[in-house]
Amino acid sequence: MPLDKRGLLGIYGLTRDDIMGILDLAREYKARVEREGFKHCDKFKDYTVANLFLEPSTRTRFSFEQAEKALGARVLNFQGQGSSMAKGESFADTCRTIEAIGADLLVIRSPVPGSQEFAANMLKIPVINAGDGQHEHPTQALLDALTMMEYKGDLRQKTVLRVGDISHSRSARSELFTMKALGADFVMCGPPNFVLPEYYGKLGARVTHDLDSVIGTADIIRTSRIQRERFQKMFMQPGEFFSMYQLNLKTLAKCKKDVLIMHGAPLRRGEEIISEVADGPNSAIFPAMRNGVYVRMALIDIFLGGGLK
Ligand code: CP
Repeated sequence: MPLDKRGLLGIYGLTRDDIMGILDLAREYKARVEREGFKHCDKFKDYTVANLFLEPSTRTRFSFEQAEKALGARVLNFQGQGSSMAKGESFADTCRTIEAIGADLLVIRSPVPGSQEFAANMLKIPVINAGDGQHEHPTQALLDALTMMEYKGDLRQKTVLRVGDISHSRSARSELFTMKALGADFVMCGPPNFVLPEYYGKLGARVTHDLDSVIGTADIIRTSRIQRERFQKMFMQPGEFFSMYQLNLKTLAKCKKDVLIMHGAPLRRGEEIISEVADGPNSAIFPAMRNGVYVRMALIDIFLGGGLK
């Protein structure tokens, strides 16, 4: 198994083969669920997976839980509030406790970049990063890639455009590493404070602040909400930002007819995207969420059962 035995801590450092291996397994699970539904399977009935979520989540938390239960694992759900962390127990002692009581795999979402790496270096069980601050959100990038390839095929011939608040987005960083590994032409577009040209340029993205200059060339456009919880003060009026970078009917009219519209969600309808685009015929936003279950099934299989040979 070429992936790090400590778990999936980020996309950075993964090869095309690593990513394709995960996606191939996710496709196998998707085919099985489409054939048989989420019927009971006892493949991992002797294993326990713990989900430690220290930041809000709907999609990632529930799709991990759905994936874990679909594979027959026992599931422990943990949130900071209501636990001994609220009484001052440290993150390290919390992780050690979860391992001590018998978890075989630990899924962590945390506001602190590097939390999962810290936990993985301390524990004997593998750790999956379900989002760490502004750093990485690898499972989101993988489910996006799976969806993009379903609709658009081999991404080596494709231009993928990421729009909006990029510098505060962990999924944008993971997506950049994923798209570079898969050979896509990856463009990042937003105002200068939200897309730092030197930083992202060095990591291999094309960077522009002018949406009109790139929108007509994109095969796939991926946007996200402004990550308001990660900075103090908006440097420009939100209305000005939305007038320049919102995905609406005017911007859609400048796109290729078959452009694929994606958004990691949660959606802030009327801000970075309007409902006519989010729910329109070019959108793969909700199918991508379902693909998240299959990607997470694949990762659980890989780390509990050596799913990649
Ligand atoms: N896309 C995503 O990570 O959504 P949640 O925050 O709801 O998990």
